[in-house]
Amino acid sequence: SILSRWFRKTCQHPVMHYQSKKFKYQEASYVGRVSFGLKDAASGGLNSGDVSLKLLNVKTEDAGDFVCYVSSSQGYDSAPVNLIVTASGSPPFLSVVWGEDDKVNVSCESEGWYPQPVLRWSDKKQDVKPQSLVYRNLSSGLFLVHSWLLLSSTSEPSCSVGLSDKEVKEAKVSLGTLHNTAKPGKENFCGWVAFALLLVATLVLAALGVMYYRKKGTEYIHNTFI
Ligand SMILES: *[C@@H]1O[C@H](CO)[C@@H](O)[C@H](O)[C@H]1NC(C)=O
Repeated sequence: SILSRWFRKTCQHPVMHYQSKKFKYQEASYVGRVSFGLKDAASGGLNSGDVSLKLLNVKTEDAGDFVCYVSSSQGYDSAPVNLIVTASGSPPFLSVVWGEDDKVNVSCESEGWYPQPVLRWSDKKQDVKPQSLVYRNLSSGLFLVHSWLLLSSTSEPSCSVGLSDKEVKEAKVSLGTLHNTAKPGKENFCGWVAFALLLVATLVLAALGVMYYRKKGTEYIHNTFI
C-alpha cells in the first residue's frame, strides 16, 4: 500500500501523512486545508500513484518549499516542490491636494499584494521618481504600498502597481482638467463679477428711466388739469 507524506522542509512539520489508507497526524495550520488532488484531468488518482497535494485557502505563509515523500512495495522516493504564492491587490487610489506655488501633492495607495509589488510613477508617459515610497505589511501577510510626489498643476500623473510588467493596475489623472472643474478659476470669477455689475447697472438705469418717465407723465397730466 502507498505511504505518502508531505511536509515543510523537515519531517517535524507534516502537512499531510497518509499511511495504511488513513490520514495520520498533521500540523494544526493545515487541518481541513489539504487533500489528495489530481495532477491533471487524465490522472487515475491515488490508485495510479498520483499523490498530488491539494491545498485550500492558501495563505502567504504557505509560500516556500514542500517535500513529498512516497513509498510502496516497489520502492520509495522524495522530491521538493516550491510553492509560489501571489496575490493581486486593489486598483491604485489616487488623491490630489493643491498646495502653494502651483505645486500639487499627488498620492497613490494600493493594498492586498503578495509579494511586495513594484510601484511606478509617470507624468505624460515619462518616468518620474516619487518623493516618498513606503511599504506596509498588513496582518493578513499582504502588502500595502503608499507613495506621493509634488507635481505642477499641468501634470498628467499615472501610478501603476504590479508584481510583474504583465499584471499591473494603473490609475491616472489629468491635473489641468481636474483643476478647472474642481475650482472656479480667477478669470471665471472676475467674469461673473463683471456680468453681475453690468446687470445691476442696467437694472438701475432702467428703474431711473421708468421713474423719470412717470414723473414727466404726471407733470403733463397735472398741467392739462390746470
Ligand atoms: C503629501 O501627501 C501625503 C499624504 O498622502 C503626506 O503624507 C505628505 O506629507 C504630503 N507632502 C507634502 C509636501 O505636503
